[in-house]
Amino acid sequence: MTYRVLINGPQKLSGRLAVPGDKSITHRALILSAMAFGRARISNILTSTDCLSTLDCLRRLGVEIELDGEDAIISGCGLTGLAEPDDVLDVGNSGTALRILPALLAGQEGFAVITGDRSIRKRPVDRVLKPLVEMGAKVWARDGGRLAPVAVSGGPLRGIVYRLPVASAQVKTAVLLAGLPASGRTTVIEPVTSRDHTEIMLEYLGAAIAVEADRHSGERHITVTGETQFQSKDIGVPGDFSSAAFFLAAGALVADEHIEIINLGLNPTRTGFIEVLEKMGGAPESTELGAVAGEPVGSVGIGRARLVGTDIGGSMIPRLIDELPLVALLATQAQGRTTVKDAAELRVKETDRIALTAAELNKLGAKVTPTDDGFIIDGPTPLKGTAVESHGDHRLAMMLAVAALSATGATVIAGAGAVDVSFPDFFDRLRQLGAECDRIAKE
Ligand code: S3P
Repeated sequence: MTYRVLINGPQKLSGRLAVPGDKSITHRALILSAMAFGRARISNILTSTDCLSTLDCLRRLGVEIELDGEDAIISGCGLTGLAEPDDVLDVGNSGTALRILPALLAGQEGFAVITGDRSIRKRPVDRVLKPLVEMGAKVWARDGGRLAPVAVSGGPLRGIVYRLPVASAQVKTAVLLAGLPASGRTTVIEPVTSRDHTEIMLEYLGAAIAVEADRHSGERHITVTGETQFQSKDIGVPGDFSSAAFFLAAGALVADEHIEIINLGLNPTRTGFIEVLEKMGGAPESTELGAVAGEPVGSVGIGRARLVGTDIGGSMIPRLIDELPLVALLATQAQGRTTVKDAAELRVKETDRIALTAAELNKLGAKVTPTDDGFIIDGPTPLKGTAVESHGDHRLAMMLAVAALSATGATVIAGAGAVDVSFPDFFDRLRQLGAECDRIAKE
């Protein structure tokens, strides 16, 4: 659904809340439970459009999935037990599904076509198809193998050793998943650590996986032994750190007292934003309270802070890739210059997030200069409400809502309905913290 949201700033927020289940972990829980044997309950799944697209694709592949509120009960089909779909699989806006489903299907008998929305059909898929072809997969895609629709004609695969050319958890996951039904071993060499939810969940499910870190280079070698079936197990999904990050940024910018997010996933491969908040002079306090299905869980609180500029790049980038538009926003209110580099991947997200983060924040009065692989932001600049646009990108919609809370005057966010992709209740949760935001019926 597409609608606009009006926010009159500045506003002050405070309070405590939980955010919905983690998007990356929900995708993996659904897909790995489909590849397991047995019936399991996955609790607190994210029921946003992205994850429901994956769920729908799995149902089309013959997986029985019952939804019970925020829980999904899945009966797994085993490593190669999926049915041939009788229609095209539609991943909607989900980049994770676009990259993982070809890998899941490459090792199964049957023919399948995968496509998605306009944004998805512009996102590179060759990064996944290349290693799959090395494993013996028969796959095709538009634009010389680069773009969806993707066609897969499944069959036997063989294990490979694959060094990731880009730090991408989606590519890592795709190769490991294709390795599960393959003959022999499959090793992914990861020069820079990306989110490791797949490794954690495979270990939790008892699959044949080994992770070794090279002490000298810091590279991780992740190996799965093929043709080793595993059983399903109940999985709990913690709150999504990337969704919580919008409230943490709001806390640093406009907290009245304190904002606290509870039941939150605190996997260190995801929480780089906490370290950046600290580097910028904020004082986030995180408390780890235990683990759910191998994933650390806890809470993070934050108050308003006087921010200073910082430099971000290198191995930090994959640990906060989805939070970089928020870093740019924080930097507009920080004293001095902030630079973000080594983040060229942002150009191939749901939108070109380098170009659009800069363009939309600049409409509000910011000084954000896009570079090939990041931004240069000079702050502080007072933000002044105006008309801005999500361009259909959920994270831009939410970042702009936080910007509007700290701006003076009225901001109207067009395409605000994009939040449904990862956080359908986003504006309700903002209201829960005291924000006033009005939905304007139609675009
Ligand atoms: C994701 C990995 C990241 C991230 C995306 C979700 C995942 O993408 O940006 O939102 O679930 O594995 P890349 O793997 O392309 O970096």
